[in-house]
Amino acid sequence: MNDYFKKRKVLVTGGCGFIGSYLCEELVLHDAIVDVIDNFSSGSPGNLDFLGNKVKIIEGDLRDVNIAVKYIKNYDYVFNLAGVAYGVAFSNLHNAEMLYSNTTIQFHVLEACRLNNITRVLMVSSSCVYPDDAPIPTPELPVFTGFPESVNAGYGWAKRIGELAATYYHDNHGMEIAVCRPFNPYGGRYLWHGMNSHVIPMLTKKVLDGDNPLVVWGSGEQSRNFIHAKDAARLMMLIMMNSKDAVPVNIGFDNDIKIKDLVKIICELGGKKPEVIFDKTKPEGRFRKAADPSLLYQVVGNYIPAVSIEEGIKDMINWYYLNSNAKTF
Ligand SMILES: NC(=O)c1ccc[n+]([C@@H]2O[C@H](COP(=O)([O-])OP(=O)(O)OC[C@H]3O[C@@H](n4cnc5c(N)ncnc54)[C@H](O)[C@@H]3O)[C@@H](O)[C@H]2O)c1
Repeated sequence: MNDYFKKRKVLVTGGCGFIGSYLCEELVLHDAIVDVIDNFSSGSPGNLDFLGNKVKIIEGDLRDVNIAVKYIKNYDYVFNLAGVAYGVAFSNLHNAEMLYSNTTIQFHVLEACRLNNITRVLMVSSSCVYPDDAPIPTPELPVFTGFPESVNAGYGWAKRIGELAATYYHDNHGMEIAVCRPFNPYGGRYLWHGMNSHVIPMLTKKVLDGDNPLVVWGSGEQSRNFIHAKDAARLMMLIMMNSKDAVPVNIGFDNDIKIKDLVKIICELGGKKPEVIFDKTKPEGRFRKAADPSLLYQVVGNYIPAVSIEEGIKDMINWYYLNSNAKTF
């Protein structure tokens, strides 16, 4: 990335969150001057403690447009990661909240950037914009017809609207906007949300809590391409550098893993041998999720992930033992 971010003023909304904290770390490593806006609803300022005074944290709720306009000014780059993003158990039952919070945050960030003449923005969308019957591996399909992923419908619609807004702000106001669609990021610094947690942290917690039998939602045959948050963060920076016309770019690859195989890895690395039961009465989401990375490679070059699934699971396990929140659910 050379000196692209060096001494540049960068804002990370939602920077106290899971992916946001990795992004702040990478930006600091590249000598950026980093500020964060967060309302601490799911993120924690403690996630950035290790960066000391290298990151300034502003507490603010971006569902309030006045807060957005007041604080989002005088930046060279704005990465918009603030949002409400939980696992399918929550998403499936809270479509209104997912739609409202994520849509308003995205509009307020774009509008604040427009009003305050910030022209470089990255909007974090999601692979949940894709329909249930999208081809696998999934290329960057147009997503403005049909329905988004059914178990994440409110969230998927919100992200679609964010992408549409990005296109209009780019076309009408000349803003240079990058849009990315991450596929299943995971890793440490994750705040567990009980049954509403994402799949890797949820399974890691169940295994390390000693659940026996270990109940896994769905058939176990469903598969996902997982990407460690460190790689997701690095790719967000590369996409910000190289994509300016609001064309969405997948952040993910085509090497998906079945959930039953993931469970095996977590049990082995966690040193546990529970009886595993697959509960097919529970939602498992799409049967297969994997990204076609062709456009990603065109935009960022031949990126090789820094963190393998085994290393990433070890990181998740370490985080479980370090993090008292993991034990509270
Ligand atoms: N984790 C995933 O699987 C995944 C996949 C695709 C896309 N994304 C997107 O990546 C981004 C980051 O997700 P994450 O997994 O790090 O989630 P996270 O919940 O850890 O981070 C989101 C951050 O936004 C903050 N936030 C929420 N509402 C806010 C508000 N109204 N005002 C200010 N701050 C607010 C939270 O406190 C948190 O720190 C989100 O936009 C999410 O939709 C995540």
